[in-house]
Amino acid sequence: MSDGGVSSLSSLPGATASASAVGLYARAAPGFEARVAASVDQLRAAAERFGAGLIQSSSLGAEDMVITDLIARHGLAIDIATLDTDALHAETLALLPQIEARYGLQVQVFRPVAEQVVHFVKSHGERAMYESLALRKACCGVRKLEPLGRMLAGRTAWITGLRREQSQNRAEVPAEELDGQGRIKLNVLADWSWADIWHYIDTHQVPYNTLHDQFMPSIGCAPCTRAISVGEDFRSGRWWWESEDAKECGLHQARSNEELKSGATA
Ligand code: ADX
Ligand code: SF4
Repeated sequence: MSDGGVSSLSSLPGATASASAVGLYARAAPGFEARVAASVDQLRAAAERFGAGLIQSSSLGAEDMVITDLIARHGLAIDIATLDTDALHAETLALLPQIEARYGLQVQVFRPVAEQVVHFVKSHGERAMYESLALRKACCGVRKLEPLGRMLAGRTAWITGLRREQSQNRAEVPAEELDGQGRIKLNVLADWSWADIWHYIDTHQVPYNTLHDQFMPSIGCAPCTRAISVGEDFRSGRWWWESEDAKECGLHQARSNEELKSGATA
């Protein structure tokens, strides 16, 4: 599996707890312009095809910031939304006002139901996610999947930043797929490399999560994300105590609308 250059770059002599992600990862690779053009074409066609039914689901990570920049740069009428799990880093949330200032775009924010979070934490504790896979998935159910159901309600298609290079589980990610609830999922950066992402960010001075400068290529909730070190895979800082197979929160797993409503996880 490709690691997107992460291991080789974090092994640079003198690498410290903080470094410029642009300096470390950005590379102009053959075919870059064609990949950008294809993503713009896909976004433009989707905006026409789905109209108000289309939404960008943004984690505010590097890939999603690239997509938001493409949407804004090409004047595409596509709503943007994020799931604020109430467990995100301050550095992640700091991007919301930056997006508004830079692009004049308001990101829709979907949060979990407060009582459900309080009930879950009271019943299982703040550290429940480390105790068992079932409790970790239950936490993702309350904080991510139930709000995802509301985010996608009334939508016919959604845009993600999933890329094939991110993990073995994602090696087959297509540019377009069905999500299992009758919606189309558009993975508009499916064939982009990590170097492409950062070359784009560098070229267009896209705002990005400063945690990427601290060796966190993949960023989720604070309790479930850590920095990676030399030789580790791209997603090894996510749910690092779990096996490779388990490492998905369920956002990208086919499930029924009923399951989404209840935040149920497989
Ligand atoms: S995750 O499933 O493990 O969390 P990852 O962080 O790699 O996924 O993100 C993959 C894609 O899922 C993102 O590009 C984005 O489209 C969507 N996504 C992940 N987290 C969120 C979030 N908090 N809010 C909205 N979309 C998200
Ligand atoms: Fe809970 Fe961690 Fe899942 Fe976030 S990623 S919803 S904190 S288990």
